[in-house]
This record gives sequence, structure tokens and C-alpha cells, in this order.
Amino acid sequence: MALTKINPTTTKAWSKLTSHFEQTKNQTLKNLFISDPNRAEKFTLKWKDFLVDFSKNRINQETLDLLLQLAKELKLEESISAQFSGEIINETEGRSVLHTALRAKKKDVIAIEGENIVPEVYAVKEKIRAFSESIISGTKKGYTGKKFTDVVNIGIGGSDLGPAMVVEALKYYKNHLKSHFVSNVDGDHTHEILKELDPETTLFVVVSKTFTTQETLSNATTIKKWFLNHANQEDIAKHFAAVSTNTEKIAEFGISSENVFPMWDWVGGRFSLWSAVGLSIALTVGYKNFDDLLSGANEMDLHFKETELSENIPVILALLSIWYNNFYKAETEAIIPYTQYLSRFSAYLQQGIMESNGKSVDRAGNRINYESGTIIWGEPGTNSQHAFFQLIHQGTKLIPADFIGYKNSLHGDVDHHNKLMANFFAQTEALMNGKTKVEVEEEFKSAGKTLFDVKHLIPFKVFTGNKPTNTILIDKLTPSSLGSLIALYEHKIFVQGVVWNIFSYDQWGVELGKQLAKNVLNDIQNSEISKHDSSTLSLLQYFKK
Ligand code: F6P
Repeated sequence: MALTKINPTTTKAWSKLTSHFEQTKNQTLKNLFISDPNRAEKFTLKWKDFLVDFSKNRINQETLDLLLQLAKELKLEESISAQFSGEIINETEGRSVLHTALRAKKKDVIAIEGENIVPEVYAVKEKIRAFSESIISGTKKGYTGKKFTDVVNIGIGGSDLGPAMVVEALKYYKNHLKSHFVSNVDGDHTHEILKELDPETTLFVVVSKTFTTQETLSNATTIKKWFLNHANQEDIAKHFAAVSTNTEKIAEFGISSENVFPMWDWVGGRFSLWSAVGLSIALTVGYKNFDDLLSGANEMDLHFKETELSENIPVILALLSIWYNNFYKAETEAIIPYTQYLSRFSAYLQQGIMESNGKSVDRAGNRINYESGTIIWGEPGTNSQHAFFQLIHQGTKLIPADFIGYKNSLHGDVDHHNKLMANFFAQTEALMNGKTKVEVEEEFKSAGKTLFDVKHLIPFKVFTGNKPTNTILIDKLTPSSLGSLIALYEHKIFVQGVVWNIFSYDQWGVELGKQLAKNVLNDIQNSEISKHDSSTLSLLQYFKK
């Protein structure tokens, strides 16, 4: 089944949600909790080592029922099956969307045009295992016979953000190999990294699905030149590996076929860390941890595929986000992990979510008349509390936030972890309850102040509260739980795309950027400047002077 092409605002559920919103928009979370003592239990989902408490949302049972009805009217269940079974749901690029096949079990059968792709996936996984183990153990050595000490991932977008985020997230599990990520076409970025490297002991992994991306090819070429200042042409075979669908271009670049890891066009760049794009993950945390990451994602896939919508974590989180985006008109969503290990998680999800659902044309090719993709941002707590939480607490905008925390820390420092988690719980409680005028007055009184003296301060200390949050509490940050967490958000993206009637797996907006830069580069490099508006023209002239 192709995905439906129904405008969600024409469904029965949408009209009911519209009136329901009018009736309930002024309800407060505080009162919702007072009126239902079982609310927390009712709106909490437990799955494996995850607990997802979504009770601090401006919803009641009817809201949830209507959102689920919306998903059903838009054929979400059928769409989920269509995606998992390899149907060509990425219609504008004529492709299946099967990142889930990358973490399938060996016995699974997933066919594209009648051919089971799982054996191919496993053949590449085996190549990743053998290669990473030989580098880690030192059986594969550099051109002067020394063991490798550093790995550099050269890629951008999905060929950088996923591996970079996971390598940072799994730092606790890391081996002796030092990892680096070169992404920006900014030569200063590349040359700063080169300063830290020894060509004799560095492995370079060029990651580019298309192998045509300007940033990656420029960086790879500069790095190859630098390498050849120290070594010979034939040494490239020992120090460069590549991950791509474009084997021809890799050969042109000069990387030995032994070090080439294929990927497939049925994997989108931003969903590709599970493929050989994650080679630098396997290299720096070891293959077993890489495989556990994939298994954790596979468990979430099964949950998403097999659990009824009302108990389905990605579905519920997606629908709640739609509730705020389309009815409350919230523009952004914050993602706040309470672990420093997930410091790159929001940046990673910015690509995943915004590149997927930042669309304004529906699946039938019409401009949409409702809001789609949310703006994603965030930083780890508690740092973010001292940066932008002021605006979430007392600003004028409604910012739903996901709080992600862990029951156990990895280094086992209980004192630190208790303080971290005290902040985690306190913030969601404060965002919900706020602080009333009476509470502020009480606080002043107990601090020995007379209300007359502090009257002018009271309005500034009042918090309206009623700010929605989801709490995702996980036992421990392990490769497996990380895999499940990432997959959760991947599926949330899909559900939202289905409901918004947009294609989540293409990215024409970014493709445009690639073409534009090419034309301007010609203008910079040649003496003639082509036609531009007067602003761009004078900027180019000034730059070239
Ligand atoms: O950012 C646009 C994009 O096409 C992403 O989807 C992709 O992850 C990135 O460019 C890099 O592309 P490639 O892996 O082909 O170099």
C-alpha cells in the first residue's frame, strides 16, 4: 500500500480535535492532576528498560482518543506495515525506506523486488566486524608497521552527525582509538584536526552515500594530499576506507576495493548510522557494542511494529507533538538529555526531524494549509538550565520538552547522579506547577521579609507553569538502550510525516543548497560574476577585492 494522500484537516478526528482544543485549551495540568489521582499511572508506558511518563501534557483521555482516531483515519497502521515491508514509500525518489532492515535479525526476510536484502546486510556487517577488529587489535597496521591510534570520519550530514553523536554517547565504552570527525568544508576545521594527527597511525574513513558531496570530497582530497606529503600512493590502501553506494567514484578517488563498504539507496543519509556509515562507531567502541546498538534499535522496531497504537511509545510521542504543533501552534520542541554523553543528541535529531518533516507540499503535490515539521533544539541538563530554561519557564512561548534521564550513572558517582536527577525531576515539576502569587508571598514571608517591602518584586517571581513535558527514564545508558532511544525518535518522525501527509524521506531543500553553492563558486573562481540581485552581487565583488 502506498501511503495515503489525505489532508489530515479533512478528517473527522481533526474537526473533533479542533472543537476539543477550544473546550480544553485553558485547562491546567495542576487541575488535571488534582481531578485524577491515577493520571500518572494512566499516562505512563513501560517497555523493557524504558519508562515514558507523558502525564505532564495538556491532554485528557478524550484528547488521546481523538489523536489515536486521527492516526487510524490516516491509516497509520497500514503505513507502518508498508514501511517495514519495503514498499516504495519514498515516492519522490522512487525508493523503499528500510533502515530497519539494517538492524533486522539474521533469520528475517525483507524483500525488495522479490529479493531478500537481509543476507547482504549481514555480509556487510561481517565486513565491518572483521575490519574493525583487525584495526583495534593491531593486526592491520599503518604503512610504517605501527598500530593505528586515530580514526577520522570524513563526512557531513547523516554521514557525520549519527556516528559523531553515537561515538560521544558511548564514550564510556570506548577503546584506545581516538576518534575525530571532519565535516565542514571550512578548511580551518580540517587543518585544526590534521594538526593533531600522525599520518603513520591514522585511519581515514570517507563516508558519503553519494560520493559527490562537495564538503566531503574537498576534505577527503585535502587530507589525501596531506597524507601523500608523508607517504606513498600505495600506502593509501592501508590508511583510507570508504562507505558509499557509489563504488565507481570511490575507485576514482583511489581507495582499495578491500576497504570499500557498500550501502544502499533504500537507506536515507540521516537514518544510516546502522549501516557501514557507523564504521567509526564499530572502530571506537568495538563491534560487539555496535551490534548491541543495532539490537536495541531492532527491539524498538518490533515494539513500534507490533504494539497497538494506544500503547506504542513512538506513536504516542508523535501524536502529542502534533497536538502542540497543530492545535496549540507551538513552533519548537526542546530535547533535554540529563547526561553529558548525549550532548550531540539534539544536533543529531535536528537533521533527523527537520530534514525529514520540514516540508510544505503534501503527498499529492499540493501546498499544505496546516503546520508541519517542528523546530528542534536542546542541550544537556543541567547546563541548559543555566542557559535557556528562563525562556521555557517565563517566556511567552509554549515549548513542549522531552526530558531524557537515566536511573543509573555509568561511573557510579551516586552523589553527582542524585543531584543531576534531582534537577531532572524538579524541572518538569516546576514547569508544570509554576509558582503562584500566594506561593511567592509565602516564600518572602518565610525569608523574614514584609510583603510591603517586596511588593514590587512579586510579579517577576510568579511562574504561570502549565508547560508540558515528557519524561523518558531509562535504566542505564548502554549501546542497546541508546539504539532503542534513537529508533524511538526515528519512528516518531515517520508517524508525524504520515499524519501530516508529507514525504519524510526526501530532502529537496538541501539538494538545492548543493547546486547554488556550485554556481557561486564559479563566480568566485572566475573573473566574471554571473547575474545576481544587487545585494549578492556587491557582496561577491567586495569578497573578491
Ligand atoms: O544534508 C543533505 C544530505 O543529502 C543528507 O541527507 C546526507 O546525509 C548528507 O547530505 C550527506 O550526503 P552524502 O552522504 O551523500 O555525502
